[in-house]
Amino acid sequence: MKYKSQKVAYWFFALSMLLLVLQLFYGFIMGFAHMGFDGWHNIFPFNTARAVHTNLLVVWLLSGFMGAAYYIIPEEAETELVSVKLAYLQLISLAVVGVIAVVGYHFNYWEGRKFLEIPRPLDWLVVVNVLLFLGLILVTLFKGKKRTTTSLVLTMGLFFAALLYLPGMIWFDSQTMDSFFRWWVVHLWVEGVWELILGGILAFLLIKITGVDREVIEKWLYVIVGLTFISGILGTGHHYYYIGTPKYWLIIGGIFSALEPLAFLGMALFAIAMYRKGEKKHPNAIALKWTLGTAIVSFLGAGVLGLAHTLPQVNMYTHGTLVTAMHGHLAFWGAYGMIVLAIISYTMPNLTGRNLYKKSSGIWAFWLSNLGMIGMTSSFAAAGVAQVYLERIMGLDFGEVQKEIQVHFFVLILCASLFTVGVCIFIYDFIRYGRPTDEALIASGD
Ligand code: HEM
Ligand code: HEM
Ligand SMILES: [Fe+2]
Repeated sequence: MKYKSQKVAYWFFALSMLLLVLQLFYGFIMGFAHMGFDGWHNIFPFNTARAVHTNLLVVWLLSGFMGAAYYIIPEEAETELVSVKLAYLQLISLAVVGVIAVVGYHFNYWEGRKFLEIPRPLDWLVVVNVLLFLGLILVTLFKGKKRTTTSLVLTMGLFFAALLYLPGMIWFDSQTMDSFFRWWVVHLWVEGVWELILGGILAFLLIKITGVDREVIEKWLYVIVGLTFISGILGTGHHYYYIGTPKYWLIIGGIFSALEPLAFLGMALFAIAMYRKGEKKHPNAIALKWTLGTAIVSFLGAGVLGLAHTLPQVNMYTHGTLVTAMHGHLAFWGAYGMIVLAIISYTMPNLTGRNLYKKSSGIWAFWLSNLGMIGMTSSFAAAGVAQVYLERIMGLDFGEVQKEIQVHFFVLILCASLFTVGVCIFIYDFIRYGRPTDEALIASGD
């Protein structure tokens, strides 16, 4: 690390890891409930567990992105963060809003809008928190000596992510209108502006790890940003098929969303090409694994498994089934979970001055978590396809079908356990690194 203030990143990563563990706990509750073991129902009803599981996911990812920004922006702009104290205040307020929301869900203080369950009064706290974060990042960037493409793409992603939170706060009496704008948040986040955040972090990591010229890597970044916007904005239409919106969305959504995998394919090819081109053998092989892994698994989870149900003819049958959960898991993990673990793996030795990347534990963490997640995705796929067939084609009752597919959740739990072991090893390494120190300041900046 080059600047003392980059140490703030560590605490955002620590919060992120804590929330990840909690997220998995709620995942297991739901997995067991699907198997027919719902003994905890009175404390953790399925709907509460689901809201907590997905909201914790979003908050651990956001905390990871914020940590990444607090590390990357000072380094790219070549200046200290404008205020470390305010960054800690922002961290604490993020944690407080998260805790209030999650506790509230257990007492039915929530809105039944998937992913946007946070009640609107609490949304204002989120807005204040994010404004503080953006203020710190923007002032640092503009006070700094340099404004690189990498830092601008990352900041643009964070800025637009904040802006796109607002359509989800408008109140509508119509279910269709509410759904329409809910997708501006959910879809335009994961298939739009979050891809800029992903691209920015990926470019930063590739510059550092492969040693390929910044100019080459940043040129690719423009291509990816272009592909993302061309396909992703109108691709929102794949959520407007049968919800009461005009019929033209069937064709617009179908065509543009089918083009979305190109952006992810571009990212995968880009990362592999830079790895091949790079001559510099960076010693942190674990960070390299997570970085290349992100590019490849995001293509599989978002690109391939997204394409699988994006055409209206298919989505008519699969909408809202476990096929969606199949895609949701691998896409979120591959694109956003893995990039957070990649930036943590890269920054920890620099923040703490200790090197654990020579140990085999990091490799185990990588393979166990990824194999576990691929197994989980396959279990959801098997359950999802069976569900579509029995429920939507044979016309069986929802509850009856859920009983028929219980067996797939036994496999899901086994694979989720493998995944959890991998994640626990990762977190064990994170703890073993210890706290960041000023002694870790190094001149070379990598
Ligand atoms: C990293 C990027 C992506 C992530 C994290 C992601 C995640 C998700 C999640 C969580 C849902 C469920 C949302 C909800 O019901 O509220 C969803 C739905 C969907 N996604 Fe993605 N996705 C990504 C990219 C893509 C891409 C590139 C495509 C198309 C090629 C796609 C196609 C779909 C479709 C069609 C649905 C609707 C499923 C339904 O009707 O139930 N996704 N995605
Ligand atoms: C111990 C590991 C995990 C288990 C057992 C688990 C299990 C589950 C279950 C049973 C559901 C509900 C499916 C339904 O609606 O019936 C769910 C939803 C979801 N989980 Fe997980 N999960 C785990 C880890 C993760 C991770 C690591 C991620 C992301 C990186 C994730 C992302 C999601 C998402 C996005 C949904 C909503 C899917 C949708 O909209 O259909 N989960 N999970
Ligand atoms: Fe979408």
